Amino acid sequence: MAETPTVEELTRNAHLRQEIEAQIIKRFAPEDEALRETLAAQKRAGLPEIQISPIQGRFLQVLAAACNAKKILEIGALGGYSGIWLARSLPAGGKLITLELDQKHAEVVRAAFARAGVADRAEVRVGAAINSLPTLQSEAPFDLIFIDADKGGYPAYLEWAIKLARQGSIIVADNCVRFGRPFQEPPPDADNAGVATYNQQIASNPHLRSILLPNDDDGMDGFAVSVVV
Ligand code: SAH
Ligand code: DHB
Ligand code: MG
Repeated sequence: MAETPTVEELTRNAHLRQEIEAQIIKRFAPEDEALRETLAAQKRAGLPEIQISPIQGRFLQVLAAACNAKKILEIGALGGYSGIWLARSLPAGGKLITLELDQKHAEVVRAAFARAGVADRAEVRVGAAINSLPTLQSEAPFDLIFIDADKGGYPAYLEWAIKLARQGSIIVADNCVRFGRPFQEPPPDADNAGVATYNQQIASNPHLRSILLPNDDDGMDGFAVSVVV
């Protein structure tokens, strides 16, 4: 058994991880003025700072390239930060649809998309995702689907994501590690129970090849990534 690390060692490791992450962001995932202003506008509007990280934004762009994404669906827009990363991965004529429950959030998102110059290809639709999803069937298939809304809804969003996908589509869900709480038996609350069911479904569905990917920064949360096979 390894010895328990000291507080000093843990602090040094945390600083080292942060420095490494900063170097990765600088080289692979730098934020431009539009992304920085999106975060500032989100804060001014009183929205929570719960957007994805730059590394996750770039990772979504890598996945978009891997599945040749021309149509992308997002569930949970917040202030448009992840939406801008996604929209920027699209070729000319591509389309991002992002579903958002909160009208006020949606207005912040529209302003962010306009400022970032992606309003021609990125559209926010207001309402509970579970009501919007059935209306998207005529616009399917989506090549990339990013789930990042209410965690209790994840199992239902997965069912819709599969319905709205094609072979080779990639389905990503944020917040699927959650300090390991979804692995507890039983999960401690409804959000963690929703994510636990999501994780179980993507692990066992023979039409999906999936993995949970803990974040590099602290490993306490992370993406679930599934490819429709
Ligand atoms: N993807 C964003 C963060 C999303 S935060 C980013 O990384 O920038 C989660 C968002 O989901 C919030 O804006 C919240 O209002 C929205 N949301 C919560 N419940 C929802 C529902 N039932 N349908 C659609 N959106 C929902
Ligand atoms: C919360 C939601 C998220 O999607 C996230 O990435 C972090 C936190 C939240 O609802 O608190
Ligand atoms: Mg999230």
